Amino acid sequence: MRTYFIAGNWKMHKTASEAVALASELVKELKDGPHKYMIAPSFTALDAVSKVVKGTNILLGAQNMSTDESGAHTGEVSVLQLKDLGVQVVILGHSERRHTYKEDDAMINRKVKLALSHGLEVILCVGELLEEREAGKAEKVCEDQTRLGLAGVSAADLKKITIAYEPVWAIGTGKTATPEDADAIHAFIRKIIADMYGKAAADEIVIQYGGSMKAENAQALLAKENIDGGLIGGAALKADTFKPIALCK
Ligand code: PGA
Repeated sequence: MRTYFIAGNWKMHKTASEAVALASELVKELKDGPHKYMIAPSFTALDAVSKVVKGTNILLGAQNMSTDESGAHTGEVSVLQLKDLGVQVVILGHSERRHTYKEDDAMINRKVKLALSHGLEVILCVGELLEEREAGKAEKVCEDQTRLGLAGVSAADLKKITIAYEPVWAIGTGKTATPEDADAIHAFIRKIIADMYGKAAADEIVIQYGGSMKAENAQALLAKENIDGGLIGGAALKADTFKPIALCK
């Protein structure tokens, strides 16, 4: 049995004090929640939010990380700095990083391996653009991003990986993949994992859906066999909109 993993990606929203206020509300609201939880504030709020979630059932996530441990990398944030603040999970390969900031699979794979080598959990995001879906390439794009993102990751380390399927055309647009379409890609990604690591690993890996997930559609998405949680952007910015997803059965 896989445990649902419900994660909030706060993107470039909230000052440190706003982030602390939301994290404090969520700690109260989700303390008896049945699922695994994570919130990922901006780097600037990690220190403050870390103190709020410490010792609770909410993991602290970061939204990105440098390919390198330290050195001359102006504007980057190192795995050592994240660990120092109590970060437990890092989101890598988000489509906004891939498409706006031109991160490629090789770069994302370096980050994945570096994060794992320091004991962090990773949410590896994969997903196709609208034109790729319309050209019938959704599966191929997800397969390549999965295989290249996980290249060189051991079976033991795979246990620290969550995959988030986020069709780019559904992110922040209000358009959601239908539960059936999403489940089909999730099943396909699970097949790729089976090919890479065997059936037991494929049965175990948690695959989140992301892209305009909200209270109104969460239940139908999570009811699908291969959808094991959500990576939530817009609806994660308020307790009122995150809580119904986080407590969804
Ligand atoms: P959204 O973002 O829920 O606002 O579509 C999801 C994500 O980008 O992780």
